[in-house]
Amino acid sequence: MQARQDKDGYIFIRPGFSSASALANMGAMKKIIAFETSCDDTAVAIIDDEGRVLAEGIFAQKIHQQYGGVVPEIGSRAHVEQIRIVANSVFRDAGLQPEDIDVVAATVAPGLLGPLMVGAQFAKGMAAALDIPFIGIHHIEGHIFSGWKDRGYPNPPFVSLIVSGGHTALYHCREDFSVELLGETRDDAAGEAFDKVGRILGFDYPAGRIIDEMAANGVDKNPMPIAFLHSDCLNFSFSGLKTHALNIINKRGRFVGAELNDFCASLAEAIASALVNKTMKALTRFKSSSLVVGGGVAANSQLRAKLTNECAAQNIHLYLPPIKHCTDNAVMIARAALIKMQQQRFSSFAVDTAATMKIEDANLLQDLPR
Ligand code: KG4
Ligand code: ZN
Repeated sequence: MQARQDKDGYIFIRPGFSSASALANMGAMKKIIAFETSCDDTAVAIIDDEGRVLAEGIFAQKIHQQYGGVVPEIGSRAHVEQIRIVANSVFRDAGLQPEDIDVVAATVAPGLLGPLMVGAQFAKGMAAALDIPFIGIHHIEGHIFSGWKDRGYPNPPFVSLIVSGGHTALYHCREDFSVELLGETRDDAAGEAFDKVGRILGFDYPAGRIIDEMAANGVDKNPMPIAFLHSDCLNFSFSGLKTHALNIINKRGRFVGAELNDFCASLAEAIASALVNKTMKALTRFKSSSLVVGGGVAANSQLRAKLTNECAAQNIHLYLPPIKHCTDNAVMIARAALIKMQQQRFSSFAVDTAATMKIEDANLLQDLPR
């Protein structure tokens, strides 16, 4: 993957699949373009109806770093500036024209309202201009189905753990791809705990990756508290852990030598253990033999290692997305849209954006049977 930094952000453009024989058949295949702008990434991807990525691009807004968190108004303006630029590079990379596209998809909920509106309106405008269907997608469905058609991605039913900066929840995906919530965080999301502790440590936002890297060189010498560990509920809580970590930082002042690595190792260990504990309980309760993981924190190495070991020990089929498709991206929205397209379910242009939306209502977004 090529990453280029310009004055406003980081641009990642990833050429996709392009074997000559397959390209010869491509005219016959349906193509979906998808837009994801629910937070601070302007992401665009084109896939074919086998789920293969023809091209994808992400503009990751760097301007928010100086505020230690995403500022919605600034994010919306950056999406407006970048969305055409990213879309044009993706078309160029895929060797396609807008007229080659069959369906346009976009995240419409949940997320930051201004940023969501930019992507959704751009996508609807494109669909209207090309006179092709539009599909509005629930962001969490995108994370759950990000690997659809990838090798190793299970057919439903399965349990899914989605863990990011805004969400930490367990879901059950039924045979017909409808999704129900099993349990979620009562307060902070796991990624939020990483980011808030990282901010006090002086790390750039988002801090999960840097804490992960430091933890890899540390040892969990002082285990941190894990909420609900011995309860049967499928909920999480990370605010107690966050406060515990912040108290240690305040008491200690400066970490010396390897102490910072050890502190990060204890934090990452506690977060990963909490996630794995509830996930295994959900799998047992639903007698499920498959697990799909997603969201930015799914990139975390402690979590990946623990899940891999536990699932192997309990004979559970585990799907972990590649790191590049854990954090927000548009391929995940395109793949969720592919499922809807295969179910012949599309959205009307009247489908609105929403800052919050229950996963059980995600199917209401596609209100036009065809
Ligand atoms: O899915 P995502 O890109 O955006 C949301 O929908 O929130 O997730 C971003 C979150 C941030 O909190 C970031 O710190 C965290 O994912 N993250 C990680 C790692 N990479 C990203 N957390 C722990 N370890 C990582 N390697
Ligand atoms: Zn996300």
